[in-house]
Amino acid sequence: MPTALPPSAPTGRYTGVAIGLHWVLALLIAGTFAVGLYMADLPVSPSRIKLFSYHKWAGVTILALSALRLLWRLTHRPPADVAGPRWQQMAAHGTHHLLYLLFFAVPLVGWAYSSAAGFPIVWFGVLPLPDFVPKDKALADLIKPWHESLAWAMALLVLLHIAAALKHQVIDRDGLINRMRPGR
Ligand code: HEM
Ligand code: HEM
Repeated sequence: MPTALPPSAPTGRYTGVAIGLHWVLALLIAGTFAVGLYMADLPVSPSRIKLFSYHKWAGVTILALSALRLLWRLTHRPPADVAGPRWQQMAAHGTHHLLYLLFFAVPLVGWAYSSAAGFPIVWFGVLPLPDFVPKDKALADLIKPWHESLAWAMALLVLLHIAAALKHQVIDRDGLINRMRPGR
């Protein structure tokens, strides 16, 4: 006999690939943000240079994985919206769209800053990446605050996103989190 689900119970799940990418990217983004904040205030030293490299490599990895994620998302239908007020569904879609935009904007602006500042990127010390803006100190000064502000915008949206996920879990108790939970 089929079990009846309460009207607000989510019925679908994201695909395994989408779930894997969500959590790998969540960890990478949180780590890259934290390293970015930490390294920026360090005095010039070999460890600062090392952290800058790690930050840039991780950022470019986020960019590449986000391209894969977007491609997967466009070719694999996500589960249907959970029942709830229309404004909440629109807020969720709006937040997800903005996050996707920032997954590209933050690393690309970081990359542009690095090129303008005269530090080309060699991904993991192996693959030299092209500079798509010229070396130009004035341009670097212009771009730097954009990388910082966009990274903060992403962090605030992520906090909003996590607060919404927790609200579904603790207040609505509708099991929304299962849609993104690894395992069966
Ligand atoms: C840096 C951290 C995170 C980022 C960047 C992020 C980003 C995203 C994005 C972009 C989506 C939409 C997926 C799509 O439709 O393609 C999503 C979905 C989701 N995320 Fe996160 N997330 C993060 C952390 C978390 C955390 C910590 C939780 C749990 C507390 C969480 C729970 C969820 C859930 C439940 C969904 C599915 C929402 C739905 O089905 O409407 N996320 N996340
Ligand atoms: C999603 C990926 C990324 C996140 C979340 C992120 C976040 C941050 C944050 C929070 C800072 C500190 C800003 C400050 O307080 O001054 C920072 C600095 C920096 N980021 Fe990123 N970043 C990302 C990707 C990249 C990429 C791909 C590059 C270059 C290839 C890059 C290059 C830099 C550089 C050079 C700085 C240091 C700026 C300075 O103080 O001189 N970032 N990043």
